[in-house]
Amino acid sequence: MKRVAFCTFGCKLNQYDTETMRTLLEEEGDWRTVAFREEADVYIVNTCSVTARADSRARSAIRRIHRERPHARILATGCYAQRAPKELGELDGVSLVLGAADRERVAEELGHTVPGQVRLAVSPISEARTFVDVPITEMMGHSRAFVKVQEGCNESCSFCIIPSTRGTSRSRRPESVWTQVEDLVANGYTEIVITGVHVGDFGLDLPDAERGLESLMRGVLAVPGLERLRLSSIQPTTLSDGILDLVAEDERFCRHLHVPMQSGSEEVLRRMGRSYRIGTFVERIEALSSRIPDCGLGTDVICGFPGETEADFRKTFDLLEALPFTYLHAFPYSVRPGSHAEPLGDDVPADEKKRRTRALKRLSARKSREFRQRHLGSTMPVLIEEGSRNGSPLLSGLTDNYIRVDLGPGEKRASVEPVRLESLTDDGVLGRRLERE
Ligand code: F3S
Repeated sequence: MKRVAFCTFGCKLNQYDTETMRTLLEEEGDWRTVAFREEADVYIVNTCSVTARADSRARSAIRRIHRERPHARILATGCYAQRAPKELGELDGVSLVLGAADRERVAEELGHTVPGQVRLAVSPISEARTFVDVPITEMMGHSRAFVKVQEGCNESCSFCIIPSTRGTSRSRRPESVWTQVEDLVANGYTEIVITGVHVGDFGLDLPDAERGLESLMRGVLAVPGLERLRLSSIQPTTLSDGILDLVAEDERFCRHLHVPMQSGSEEVLRRMGRSYRIGTFVERIEALSSRIPDCGLGTDVICGFPGETEADFRKTFDLLEALPFTYLHAFPYSVRPGSHAEPLGDDVPADEKKRRTRALKRLSARKSREFRQRHLGSTMPVLIEEGSRNGSPLLSGLTDNYIRVDLGPGEKRASVEPVRLESLTDDGVLGRRLERE
């Protein structure tokens, strides 16, 4: 048996793609997955390219693997591999660079590698028209199972390279999603997290036009035995009243949504090529918070996009402060080669970008603390996770509205249990498990 180990960067989609490759290799019968720290014949690095920092982390991981395991073959795949295959192929130790549309041929492509030579197997992603559907019934090392329902994106946000790394929007057949959820629930998964690059576009390319995201989610909620359903991230333009009603009405649908804002300045949003105006964004967030009280609500913000002035940043800060977000992901802008914004340059000084990012991180910490504080003293259902967090021997879990709950030592099993939230920690709360009624 040959041993393969995975190192995954980036978002939940990449984690799902890693599971796809693991499943395909194990189905071949002569591959066994080992932990990344163990000795393996092949290391697969599933890269992200969302920022310059993400690229650099992928390169460091590859260099480290080659230094520590000089005889192992390294396969680089993911968004960075699709964006700049040659760049990754030039790194010592890399035997194979595999594109996003070529993942389903992972076993075959590995079979074609020759020691000392680099193979680039990267097809043009713009030609990909169908969703690559690999039945996955297990997510290694996760208590919550991610289910990818859609791939690619038809928008053209100027800062983003994802359409060029993942292609145009392709939806999975709803029946295939429901079957996978049934299998995952049968395998003991308590929470299903629906993911996609642009989940709100789900169904647009399917023949049956009424089969949009809402209908998909209704079908998922109809799976017997499902305890929890979560949506990973949704664009404001596709956050329909129907989806909000579903979250509000069905208590298995987690009160947690992540709606990327990117900037609170109309002018910057326009240059970013975002397909909504501030008014629409605010209206959707207000609709959400009035229908779903105590919703865990996150957003993404880019600091220092080309031409962003102090006044633009102030508008972003003030809007984020006023809206009921419970956490923010703030990133300093970095030019992505090949993006529409590349010709705009990068005129906000690095120190200024850092200062703005830090200010938003402080705001995020304050908003998160206030949100968690409001829940102290209450008893909430918590999904206690099987794996330990950050290598800690203590148990940890999540409330439906995305509060991280640290617990004492105890029996590890992925289950939803009542927990009393007692005091604040740095990024969550400390809880006490109560007996189930
Ligand atoms: Fe990164 Fe690609 Fe996900 S750029 S965030 S791994 S879609």
